Amino acid sequence: MACLCEQIAGEDIELSPTCIGHLWIFQNLKAEEIEALSRKALRKKSTTGQALFLQGDPTDEMFLIKGGRVKLSKVLEDGSELTLDIRKAGDFVGENMFLEEGQYPVSAYCIEDTLTCGFSRRQFEQLVLQHPKVGLQIIKNLSERITWLTMRVGRRIIMSEAETTALLNFYNMLLEAERAGVTVLSELNMQAEDQRIKPILKKFLRDEGVNCRILISLINDLNAKPSDRTGEFVDKIRALDTIDEKIQLLIRGQAWVARKIKEFRFNLPAGSTYLFLEAIKVQHEENVDTLKKYFHG
Ligand SMILES: [Fe+2]
Repeated sequence: MACLCEQIAGEDIELSPTCIGHLWIFQNLKAEEIEALSRKALRKKSTTGQALFLQGDPTDEMFLIKGGRVKLSKVLEDGSELTLDIRKAGDFVGENMFLEEGQYPVSAYCIEDTLTCGFSRRQFEQLVLQHPKVGLQIIKNLSERITWLTMRVGRRIIMSEAETTALLNFYNMLLEAERAGVTVLSELNMQAEDQRIKPILKKFLRDEGVNCRILISLINDLNAKPSDRTGEFVDKIRALDTIDEKIQLLIRGQAWVARKIKEFRFNLPAGSTYLFLEAIKVQHEENVDTLKKYFHG
């Protein structure tokens, strides 16, 4: 039998082979239990721009993105919006928040036409009541998950001196790079004459400034003094003659930051620190795409 998702998606949404039954909460269930589960799941088709949930809404749903892409973003205290992650087909959303009553810490917007497959809290509770064996397995899975999370958190709380130093060096390296980004982007913004590139550079400039603030506060949290140096990137860009050459190097600089975060991310403390750095990584990857698009029409 073709999955219900296929019938609902139609031809315009490309679907992932991942199913709601693959979520860790449902692992070790029997095939027929997974099938019963999958039949009960709620499929929703949303169009580009639609919100799946908003920051502050009560956590009421978890789902699999069966097709499409979803942006998770957070509005900061000063009103600016930070993109934390882009989730794509095959990714789960809300599964951790769903387990305790509370509010979504982020908003989720579709950036493509999207098909989701999942459960509301009420449906999930009914499911567990109707299939006690499923409920028991879910409890087992949850307790394994809790053990795993506790181990991860414990490892982070007791950070050795060497780990703390490595983390601080990493934050300071990024801080110097982002500070260089602020200088470079404000100079480029003044030099650029093409009206297509100016708003792009302005947005990057704002983002790099926010990143500096985030990194300074992460360093302060470790009771250390943030570096006041600016990265060598400024001189490298200044040495180039044309604006196009400068922007080409800017692309490499943005890719460098994303790569450095990717390489270091498993050494980052779990929780909001991890998310902030992940957000900076996604932002730099998007910047590379935007700049490449500018060059290629
Ligand atoms: Fe940057």
